Amino acid sequence: MANVVIVGAQWGDEGKAKIVDLLSKNADYIVRYQGGSNAGHTVNANGEKYKFHLIPSGILYPGKVCMIGSGTVIDPKVILSEMDHLTERGVDISGLQISAAAHVTMPYHIIIDRAQEEMRGSKKIGTTVRGIGPTYADKSARNGIRMQDLIDPTELLEKLKFLIPEKNIMLERLFGLEPLELDAVYQEYVAYGQRLRPHVFDTAAIIWQADKKRKNILFEGAQGTLLDLDHGTYPYVTSSNPVAGGACIGSGVGPNFIDRVIGITKAFTTRVGEGPFPTEISGKDAKILRAEGTAWEEIGTTTGRARRVGWLDAVLLRYAIRINGLDCLALTKLDVLDDLDAIYVCNSYKDLRNGKTYYELPAESNFLKYAQPEYVGLMGWKNEGKSSADARCVEDLPKGALSYVKYLEKILEIPITIVSVGPSREQTIVLEDPIHGPKRVLESEVVTM
Ligand code: IMP
Ligand code: MG
Repeated sequence: MANVVIVGAQWGDEGKAKIVDLLSKNADYIVRYQGGSNAGHTVNANGEKYKFHLIPSGILYPGKVCMIGSGTVIDPKVILSEMDHLTERGVDISGLQISAAAHVTMPYHIIIDRAQEEMRGSKKIGTTVRGIGPTYADKSARNGIRMQDLIDPTELLEKLKFLIPEKNIMLERLFGLEPLELDAVYQEYVAYGQRLRPHVFDTAAIIWQADKKRKNILFEGAQGTLLDLDHGTYPYVTSSNPVAGGACIGSGVGPNFIDRVIGITKAFTTRVGEGPFPTEISGKDAKILRAEGTAWEEIGTTTGRARRVGWLDAVLLRYAIRINGLDCLALTKLDVLDDLDAIYVCNSYKDLRNGKTYYELPAESNFLKYAQPEYVGLMGWKNEGKSSADARCVEDLPKGALSYVKYLEKILEIPITIVSVGPSREQTIVLEDPIHGPKRVLESEVVTM
C-alpha cells in the first residue's frame, strides 16, 4: 500500500497521463490536485483514443474513485461535456467525485484571460485562454465561487449579485467590452450546478477514510514543475502549484501522507506558450522531435498550438528533482529519438555574463536569459537497425537507447524506473518497480568503504 504523487518534471506534456494510466491499475483512488481545463491529456486504451481536460484518466478503469481536489479550478461546461462524452462511449462515471472546495471558472474569467493577454501585447504569457489565471486570482482575492456555492442556488445568486456588477466595471471600463447579464449567467450556471450536484463531496475527508482502510491513493499533477506559480519560470507559468507539495494542499492531506514521488520527463524537452527555453532548437532535428506528420505530433491537446521543442535539459531536471523531492523518474517518448544521428543533452549552463558554469539552476529569475547550454553529444542508435518503439523489455532496446537511459541516470543521480517507447499501453518498459523499487539515495545514506 502506498500513496504516490505523479508530477511533470518539465513544462508539462511529459506524457504523465500514460504513466498515470499504468499506475492507476493498482490504485483505488486517483486524485487530481491542481489546474483546470488548461490541461489536456490523451490516453489510448481499448483501441480508442480518449481526451481529457479535467477528469482523471483513471475513470477508464471500472471501480476506481476519481477525484478532482480542492486545489483545482473547474469550468462546469467543460467537465459536463467530458462527462457526457464518456457516458456516450459507455464509460461508467459514477466514481467521479469533485471537491466542494474547488473553485469554479466563470464566463468572466475566460473573457478577462483573453483581454489581459491582448493587453500584454509582446509581453503575453501565451495562456491557454481557459480562464485559469483570473479564476485563481479571484480565489486568492476571496472573490471566488466554489463548487459548494455552484450547487446551492441561493448562495450562487447572492455571490453573483455582488460579483457580476464588479466584473462588469472591469469589462466595460478597463477592457471596453460588453457587460454580462446577471440573470443569464445565473440561469445557465445554476443549471450546471444542479447537474454536477451528485458528484460534489468533501473529498479530503473521503481520502482520510480511504487511507485508514489502507487503500492506494495516486495523486496526479497537471502541467509541470517549470510551470509552477512559485517555483517555475515566473511569470511564464500557470497560476497553480503542480509541484509535489501541491498535492498536499490541493487535496487536503498532510505531507507525511505521501510515500513516493515519481517525476515524468520526456527524453527531450517541449514547451507551449511564451517564456525562456534554453535548449530550444529548430531545423531538421526539431522536425524529428516534434514528430511532424505523425499521429503523435507535438501539438497542444488543449490549444492545438505547435509545441516548441529542444534537447533534454539536465540542469532543469536536477532542479525538478530537488523541488519535488523526486524518488525516481519515468522517461517517455524515447522512441522519438530513433531517427536522430546524434543526441544532445544539456549538462550545464554557461553564464554569458561571467563565464561561470552551472550544473544547477540558480534562483535569479532573469538567469535563463544569459544561460548558454553546454551540451554533451551522444551517438544515436539509428544504424542499429532496431526501433525502440518495438521494444517490450530492456533486452529489446537498441544498445544506444539503453546507454542513453543509463547516462541520464548517472548525470541526474536518480533511478529511471519506467521507459515509454510509444503511445500504446504495451509500449511501456518497467525497469524497476516505480513504487517499491530503488529510489534516489540521499547523500547521508551513501555507504562509503
Ligand atoms: P494558463 O495555465 O492557461 O494560464 O497558461 C499559462 C502557461 O502555462 C502557458 O504558457 C501555457 O501554454 C502553459 N500551460 C498551461 N497548461 C498547460 C498544459 O497542460 N501543458 C503545457 N503547457 C500548459
Ligand atoms: Mg498536456
